[in-house]
Amino acid sequence: MSSAPAQHVRVDLGPRSYDIVIGAGLLSQAAALLRPHLASDKAVIVTDETVAALYKDVLDHSGLNAVFIVLPAGERTKSFTYLQEVLSAMLAHGLERNDAVIALGGGVIGDLTGFAASVYKRGCRFIQIPTTLLSQVDSAVGGKTAINVPQGKNLIGAFYQPKLVLSDMSVLSTLPERELKSGYAEVVKYGLLGDADFFTWLEDAGAKILAGDLAATAEAVRKSCEAKARIVAQDEHERGQRALLNLGHSFGHALEAQAGYGGNLLHGEAVSAGMEMAFEFSARLGLCPKEDTARVKAHLKTLGLTTTVDTRQLLQAPETFLSHMQHDKKNEGGALTLILTRAIGQAFVQKGASTQDVLAYLQDLKEALG
Ligand code: NAD
Ligand code: GLY
Repeated sequence: MSSAPAQHVRVDLGPRSYDIVIGAGLLSQAAALLRPHLASDKAVIVTDETVAALYKDVLDHSGLNAVFIVLPAGERTKSFTYLQEVLSAMLAHGLERNDAVIALGGGVIGDLTGFAASVYKRGCRFIQIPTTLLSQVDSAVGGKTAINVPQGKNLIGAFYQPKLVLSDMSVLSTLPERELKSGYAEVVKYGLLGDADFFTWLEDAGAKILAGDLAATAEAVRKSCEAKARIVAQDEHERGQRALLNLGHSFGHALEAQAGYGGNLLHGEAVSAGMEMAFEFSARLGLCPKEDTARVKAHLKTLGLTTTVDTRQLLQAPETFLSHMQHDKKNEGGALTLILTRAIGQAFVQKGASTQDVLAYLQDLKEALG
């Protein structure tokens, strides 16, 4: 795999189009790969302490001449405090609009840095180097940037596309297993929402991906990025079909809110449990075959994606759970918008979903879980 040529996926957005470059060992060639996308010699790299300790030297040795801004690792860094710190450091380094700000890290660093780039001098050149599986298949692609506020996650942000996404499969070897599994849930999401053949492929390849097989991982990242690029190209600002990318997220976000956004429940773990719930709820409404729901649950269970989630505890208060779902950004006019499904690979956007049906499902689920 390390000698296999890098693959390119195009995100087609007219004048804001860009490439996602996917391959192994790309970080050590970063200077050469980034050069065509830089308009000046000046760049800052925003990263977290964990990623800096692992990969700062690799980037320095690649010949990239950039100043590092190193932040604490973890979800709390996606905040006004660290947004201000990044912007102040960019000002202190005299960054101009055409100079580059590069996000090196997972979704936390990518979301925060992208938002900083979007508001710095009304928008400066932005490049993503995602280092978690989740960020390679989801957060680094498509231009959603945000910070969290006490009122909720990702409530302050902007759509702001990068000029390039550089996804190095090799960096995933240092990712903790739990983080890898969390990212894998987002890979499964692409199969479940629109590509049944991809899900079937994952039923076989999933174990290889979680065992670190670089070729299988690169294939999964490519297929995921192609799926996301297709949807984003049609609906960049989420007026319609882009909401499909939120399969599992309405239930998942409520689980995250119940869990308190700490390390208790990672985003992908919540999405994994949320996708199961979306399938169960769809089957209960008679929309989706029960066999498909069973197949989804079996795959997630076989790969150990749901074992760390104590859903029972999080579902103790169905009314509170529902109230978290009612804060979802997709809702309109106070009515729930859910991503439901007719089968594996056939998700759809359901506006005005019945709160009574959801509450009855949550109550039954609570009883069934004991
Ligand atoms: P993260 O950025 O917190 O990274 C997870 C952990 O892995 C961190 O501790 C980090 O330091 C560490 N890490 C990163 N790369 C590593 C590597 N190669 N080796 C070892 N450790 C490494 O979490 P995440 O799961 O990447 O991203 C979650 C965030 O992404 C959430 O804030 C979520 O809201 C956001 N998100 C955004 C979008 C979007 O479209 N913008 C989509 C999905 C999720
Ligand atoms: N992660 C969902 C989206 O980018 O729309």
